[in-house]
Amino acid sequence: MTTAHTNFSMENLASLCKRRGFIFQSSEIYGGLNGFWDYGPLGCELKRNVREAWWKDMVLNREDVVGLDCSIIMHPRVWEASGHVGGFTDPMIDCRGCKKRFRADQLFEELGLQPSGESEVEKKFKVPAGTKCPACGSLELTDPRAFNLMFKTFVGPVEDSSSVAYLRPETAQGIFAQFGNVLSVSRQKIPFGIAQIGKAFRNEINPRNYTFRSREFEQMELEFFIKPGTDAEWHQYWVEQRLKWYQSIGLPQESITQYTYGKNELAHYASACVDIMYAFPFGVQELEGIAARGNFDLSRHQEYSGKSMEYFDPDTQEKFIPHVVEPSAGVDRIALALLCNAYHEEWIPKEGPAIEAEPGKPPPEGYEARTVMRFAPRVAPIKCAIFPLLKNKPELVGKARDIFTTLRKHWPVFYDQTGAIGRRYRRQDEIGTPFGVTVDFETLTDNTVTLRERDSMQQIRIPVDKLTEELAGRMG
Ligand code: GAP
Repeated sequence: MTTAHTNFSMENLASLCKRRGFIFQSSEIYGGLNGFWDYGPLGCELKRNVREAWWKDMVLNREDVVGLDCSIIMHPRVWEASGHVGGFTDPMIDCRGCKKRFRADQLFEELGLQPSGESEVEKKFKVPAGTKCPACGSLELTDPRAFNLMFKTFVGPVEDSSSVAYLRPETAQGIFAQFGNVLSVSRQKIPFGIAQIGKAFRNEINPRNYTFRSREFEQMELEFFIKPGTDAEWHQYWVEQRLKWYQSIGLPQESITQYTYGKNELAHYASACVDIMYAFPFGVQELEGIAARGNFDLSRHQEYSGKSMEYFDPDTQEKFIPHVVEPSAGVDRIALALLCNAYHEEWIPKEGPAIEAEPGKPPPEGYEARTVMRFAPRVAPIKCAIFPLLKNKPELVGKARDIFTTLRKHWPVFYDQTGAIGRRYRRQDEIGTPFGVTVDFETLTDNTVTLRERDSMQQIRIPVDKLTEELAGRMG
């Protein structure tokens, strides 16, 4: 049972993200482009922290995983071998009345229709006569068609069928295509993994829920190669590892669920798949899929390229095509989950603990409203803000600048001398800075500063020469 924090509106979160520089609409000055987003100064720090946490835990802290960084455009045969050219499709239905385009499964869900048991898209999502378009009410909904989600382009100056190429719809296939090279240079033995972080592109029919379903996004994928027959145990291992990782970046256990695929939902080559889901305000949705894919991908690349993908086991003297377990996560979806999890509207009294605000209502007498992003320090874009109490006192400013210079060698920190100290705290609360350091007149006499913690708003005094160590201990 998930008891997630969802009692806020996505509009309020999106407005904060724009106002404070987390997320902007792509090409906003030209009206935006549906399904594409830009990350502002704070958003790109947040995403960088997600990537770095993943890379540290999945690659750097392990002896059995190595990294890879493949090109986005690869030989088109890669996508024939992987099955994406033939089968990476979503069913689509158009309305001839208002020209709106729907993803057939979403349209069926919206209209409360049941897909038939047929496997062909054309039969499965055929709309019953008399069905009205939910946008304009017209009766002119088309039959469903399979729509390939890969973005096509041309390599070189000639735009014909021989120069067609695709923007990769996943990073995984680059790993499979380079399996032989990585194996020969990395001195790894099975079981071992190859990890990659990078952009992926899907021409989604209906991008929606803010950045959740975008047309350009970033994946973090691990292909963990194993001996055939060990699939179930390694799959279980990776599900457990990945669930722990989400807690390590501050997503609480109660907001995360697992969805285990039934046998009839699995691809024909897969033996298991678990999705890790987060309770967003718009529903419980996938952050990551962890699939046991057998040797499907390597076998197909062996067949299509004519190059051997076999592994020779020096211990047993056996040759085999390795099986793979694939934890595949989305950076943007995780960033969105972190933003949703962090966002809190509160009412705070002059003294004592804050209470959760009631959406749409003003704070009661004696309380003040604050919006606070409760990021775990590990993912917070800015880790600490440094404030001189007054900007027109050079002794305070000089000391605060010295502290700023020291701390910025360790973390992204922010110096702010403008406005009343309370307002400066609020500005940092709103972007999720976990710690604030204030230099005041006491600092000048005993070399201590105030260290304020964002969530509890509690303040302690601490010697300046202990500050770096104290913060390091609190960073997580
Ligand atoms: N190689 C396996 C694979 O690509 P997937 O479930 O299609 O599997 C993996 O994608 C992850 O990539 C998803 O769990 C999600 O986090 C992210 N992802 C997929 N499509 C996305 C989209 N349109 N927008 C944002 N993230 C997406």
